[in-house]
Amino acid sequence: MIDLHIHILPGIDDGSRDMEESLEMARCAAADGIKAVVATPHIMVGVYNNSKEKILDAVQTFRGQLQAQGIPLEVYPGAEYMLDPDIPLWLKEGRALTLYDGGKYLLVEFPAAEIPIYADQTFFEIALQGVTPIIAHPERNSKFMEDPDKLLSFIEKGALCQGTAGSFTGLFGSRARRLAVDYLLDGCYHFISSDAHGTDRRSPVLSEACRVAEGYSTGLGKLLTGDNPTRLLQGRSPVRPPTIEKPPPQGKLGFLSRLWRRKDTFPGK
Ligand SMILES: [Fe+2]
Repeated sequence: MIDLHIHILPGIDDGSRDMEESLEMARCAAADGIKAVVATPHIMVGVYNNSKEKILDAVQTFRGQLQAQGIPLEVYPGAEYMLDPDIPLWLKEGRALTLYDGGKYLLVEFPAAEIPIYADQTFFEIALQGVTPIIAHPERNSKFMEDPDKLLSFIEKGALCQGTAGSFTGLFGSRARRLAVDYLLDGCYHFISSDAHGTDRRSPVLSEACRVAEGYSTGLGKLLTGDNPTRLLQGRSPVRPPTIEKPPPQGKLGFLSRLWRRKDTFPGK
């Protein structure tokens, strides 16, 4: 598996606090079967002003430490951008850091409770420069929770989507989990990534979410945690995920099975 979204670089955002924690995250990722990660520290004006050079340097230092400790994990540079109308300008000036510094894909998050009015225009201007935006964890945005279809217009215009592994296992609550599964079945996700920030609650584990996806469709978990991230690192387009027929609502099934159980219990009535 390959993790395209992880806050593993030490001391530059709200992820790993120091090198010791970064190395522990790397051990945890490797133990879960993750062979490579794209380190994606936050870039948020006025909060996390990480420059491209700073991140590239931090990745080099971290690689050296991983090698010294004999931890089998490849690390590539990247960033998670808070959506900002200046991103196209940063790209034009060569200041923006795309995933694996490959110049093709940019990881973008929306504010947790907002779809900014400039989102469409900013995505359009990013795409004009040959860069594809990847929307990070839409299932955790309250506007998408209120109106899930709002995501479709971004996908129709060429944006890709990344779901967070913990969303599928209920780490962010039942609403986020339901929406994550709905988007998964609708074929909205091209990747599942950990978005890990440490080793405890939000840890670098993809295997559980992969199993959830495999439970809905054989091969789907492998596509989103392995094949598509691999293609991205090779500069190739990810495969469009399949859409999957939704299982019937559980509430109705539960009611029917209760009814049948009662008939079995009281055959004479
Ligand atoms: Fe993140």
